[in-house]
Amino acid sequence: MLEQINLLREKGQNELKSLTSTDQLPDWYHQYLGRKGDLTSFLKQLGTLSAEERPAVGKIINEVKQEFQQSFDLRQETLRESKLHEELEIDDLDVTLPGRPCTTGHLHLTTQTLRRIYQIFQEMGFQVYEAPEVETDEYNFQLLNIPEYHPARDMWDTFWVDDEVVLRTHTSPGQIWAMREYYPDPIRVILPGKCYRYEQITPRSEHQFYQVEGLTIGKNIRLTDLIGVMTEFAHKMYGEDRKVRIRGSYFPFTEPSIEIDMSCSCKDKADSGSGGCRLCKYTGWLEVAGAGMVHPVVLRNGGYDPEEWSGFAFGMGVERPALLKHNIDDIRYFYGNDLRFLQQF
Ligand code: DAH
Repeated sequence: MLEQINLLREKGQNELKSLTSTDQLPDWYHQYLGRKGDLTSFLKQLGTLSAEERPAVGKIINEVKQEFQQSFDLRQETLRESKLHEELEIDDLDVTLPGRPCTTGHLHLTTQTLRRIYQIFQEMGFQVYEAPEVETDEYNFQLLNIPEYHPARDMWDTFWVDDEVVLRTHTSPGQIWAMREYYPDPIRVILPGKCYRYEQITPRSEHQFYQVEGLTIGKNIRLTDLIGVMTEFAHKMYGEDRKVRIRGSYFPFTEPSIEIDMSCSCKDKADSGSGGCRLCKYTGWLEVAGAGMVHPVVLRNGGYDPEEWSGFAFGMGVERPALLKHNIDDIRYFYGNDLRFLQQF
């Protein structure tokens, strides 16, 4: 029997070595180590041996059993590993490669600028009011004191959807929406949003852009209130050292109308004649907003009696200040979606 066991030992080891895939392992296991396997049947035959032979043979069987188990475990590991390697090669998948980092985005420069503007006006008690981007001729022009025949219409190159409907050329129609909603309460709102103009796209002009409109309606509101608010805005947005300058102007929906300028950071140099910069075209002044006292006709169109109420309004661009602040020389970058640009801010 010892001889048979040794034969089995050799055969088992050889077969185990010749196995080429993990699929073949169970069969081998059943044959040699299983409950109905060869070693078990030798164990069962122990009883047929004489009492002197039995311990030695039993010992050998146990040794072989342990040996088989160890060899099996080892072979199993080797075959599993080579299987994994094969799969990795076939699938071109390397599970040990570090994962790709997930990049998080951030707010667009225009959104950042808008939020800063909201914050500053919020501190002065203004709330944000949103009005439609698709407007009627009535709201975009007529109710703002720009009748159909009026040459002032030429100030806005307009996208007409049909004879009645336009893409708003400015945020000013929001004034009418706000007044009609809030009458007879006093009003202090800013109206941000996109505007559209039928313009040639150049480094200085886009056909879509943002504006922030401002509107206050109340009793005894005066031009000096407007100047005070805009001076505070310029100081908060650009720095306490900025000076504000007022020039007379014309807008159909305000009377009187003004332009608000702010000193450029190069102003001292520009004044002394020893320099200045391209941004302000060497004048030392930058345009901030068009503004004025709300025209009586507009007040009335919003439902407010101009004998009793007064108010001021202003409108400013959003991209241009961002452009100035960051020294960007082309407004088209704002809508180009080029990450090389966007990621700088
Ligand atoms: N709506 C004007 C524009 O787009 C800007 C503007 C000027 C708005 C004066 C105002 C204002 O509210 O009072 O050109």
